[in-house]
Amino acid sequence: MVMHASSSDDPVQSDDVLSEAMDFLRECGQSGTRAAVSGRRLAEASAGILAEGTYPQTYSELVHGARLAWRNALDCLGRPHWNMLHVRDARDVRTPDECYDACVEHLRFATNGGKIRLVLTAFPQRAPGTTGWRIWNSHLVRYAGYRTSGGAVMGDPDTADLTQFALELGWPGGAGTPFDVLPLIIQPPDGPPQWYPLPEDAVLQVPLSHPEYSWFEELELKWYAHPAISNHILRIGGVEYPAAPFSGWYTCTEVAARNLSDQHRYNALPSIAGRMGLDQRSPRSLWQDRALTELLRAVLHSYDQHGVTMVDHHFAAEAFVRHEHREAKAGRTVPARWRSLVAPTAASTTPTFTREYPEEVRMPNFFRHPDSPRPAVERDPTVSAGTRT
Ligand code: ARG
Repeated sequence: MVMHASSSDDPVQSDDVLSEAMDFLRECGQSGTRAAVSGRRLAEASAGILAEGTYPQTYSELVHGARLAWRNALDCLGRPHWNMLHVRDARDVRTPDECYDACVEHLRFATNGGKIRLVLTAFPQRAPGTTGWRIWNSHLVRYAGYRTSGGAVMGDPDTADLTQFALELGWPGGAGTPFDVLPLIIQPPDGPPQWYPLPEDAVLQVPLSHPEYSWFEELELKWYAHPAISNHILRIGGVEYPAAPFSGWYTCTEVAARNLSDQHRYNALPSIAGRMGLDQRSPRSLWQDRALTELLRAVLHSYDQHGVTMVDHHFAAEAFVRHEHREAKAGRTVPARWRSLVAPTAASTTPTFTREYPEEVRMPNFFRHPDSPRPAVERDPTVSAGTRT
């Protein structure tokens, strides 16, 4: 099943769960994996859909579906590894505490002391007519962004709303550094959101230093080891998993050329250029380009020093083109959003730059949660706060 990217980024409101399910199960049948299905399985699933509006998937179907969703993810450069995704089954979780525990286990398993594992944890599927489980954080680990009275943000401006939400729920706030780890905010289908601080030893972080500039450490920049994306709905064969955090390793440009350097994020380039003694009066001195290159070097160097998996944009783009060739051999084209696949620095030196991609949304896939209004805040902290520390 194919949808067009322009239609929307919202979860598909398909009236035709049945045909999506049948497409998926038939694809499982042809996959040669353990998810292979029989005619009986098709009949069973369609009976479930007609009676209840949905059907339970087997673990093998979940695994195969999650891998296909990754293979179809338009914005992901890491897809050459789609077939290696490890899927953790947390579909039996019943309480926010259990969900939190599984998220912490996910972090520990994926982080793996720095040798990042490709892993997705699936929480219960959405029952028709309910919103299902929701993790409000966009990644399991994010840094807080505190709004200050002057209208500025201290920390990561990208999380200012989420930080506000956490504070309203009763989170007392962190130490007040630019890199305070936010609590997890978990909402069960039938209850209010609850916040849970993450255990420090489950959150691997990398302080940044530079291979040559000893002053670099004084900037006190850092980033977390890997992103565990947690604000997407995984949709497989007409079944939605609204909480399905998935982890992969970083490409250095994501951290250096966006998160730490975008003017509306950490905006670190002026202070790096200042230390380098570059002329910032005119962009024509290319002070931004030069500072950014050194930030990229610092990020790669520091992740290497700490034994944390990270790829560079050159290697990642080459691997992606090899993936395209493998897919072509298997008779498939590779849909993608060009803007997401091409590195934000030295773009023209990477092989994806001159290629073109169909921006086609295939199923299964991941969909960002629509920006639904936040639920009303439970004021009593003894009720709203999670019990774990
Ligand atoms: N670009 C996002 C970030 O910088 C993460 C997106 C997913 N990236 C990945 N390598 N799995 O935090």
